[in-house]
Amino acid sequence: MKMLNIALPKGRLGEKVYGMFKEAGFPCPSIEENNRKLIFENEEVGVRYFWVKPSDVPIYVERGVADIGVAGKDILLEYEPDVYELLDLNIGKCSMCVAGKSNFIDDPLKTLTVATKFSRIASEYYLKKGRDIDIVHLNGSIEIAPILGLSDVIVDIVETGTTLKENDLIVLERFLPISARLIANKQSFSFKSCVIDGLKNKLIEKTEGNV
Ligand code: PRP
Repeated sequence: MKMLNIALPKGRLGEKVYGMFKEAGFPCPSIEENNRKLIFENEEVGVRYFWVKPSDVPIYVERGVADIGVAGKDILLEYEPDVYELLDLNIGKCSMCVAGKSNFIDDPLKTLTVATKFSRIASEYYLKKGRDIDIVHLNGSIEIAPILGLSDVIVDIVETGTTLKENDLIVLERFLPISARLIANKQSFSFKSCVIDGLKNKLIEKTEGNV
């Protein structure tokens, strides 16, 4: 039997996603054991899962190592991978926001310095507004940039708002709703269309409950 290869985003979102795939007919008991392995197979149902860094999921799918995977809309907009986006899973919901210190006042005559992991999304957002900016690309802990004076504001995802609150920052603009998407490799989608479509249809029933 041909295996269906699935890239799961490591972390809480991935565990939720696995739960949905399991209920949709792709269980894999070994993944539920608490260990540090990264690849798991269930030959009986023909599935192989692997845990990858969330922002790497589209790379595995685009290159066909994974037939399908789950990635946040933020990652898809930022990296624009050549994959099919099949379904909004309605989980992992958060927003792309501009955040800064509560006393921040934007001076339109000055270039705005923006720290972010999402350079493309931030550039497009400010381009549309016609605002002159200078991007400082960071890989994490974005929230400290305005505190230490590295940037005026940040563009980042906000879920619960706890990270901002604990670092004395506030949301200045909330401009893009984000959620997790089921994505597929383009070739796999034609060669394994039956199994991928079957899974997608089962997931549609589940995602309706997540709205
Ligand atoms: C994201 C984001 C914020 C935080 C927001 O970081 O960059 O820091 O989550 O979540 P909250 O509103 O619920 O506090 P992530 O956990 O992905 O870590 P990273 O900065 O290392 O990428």
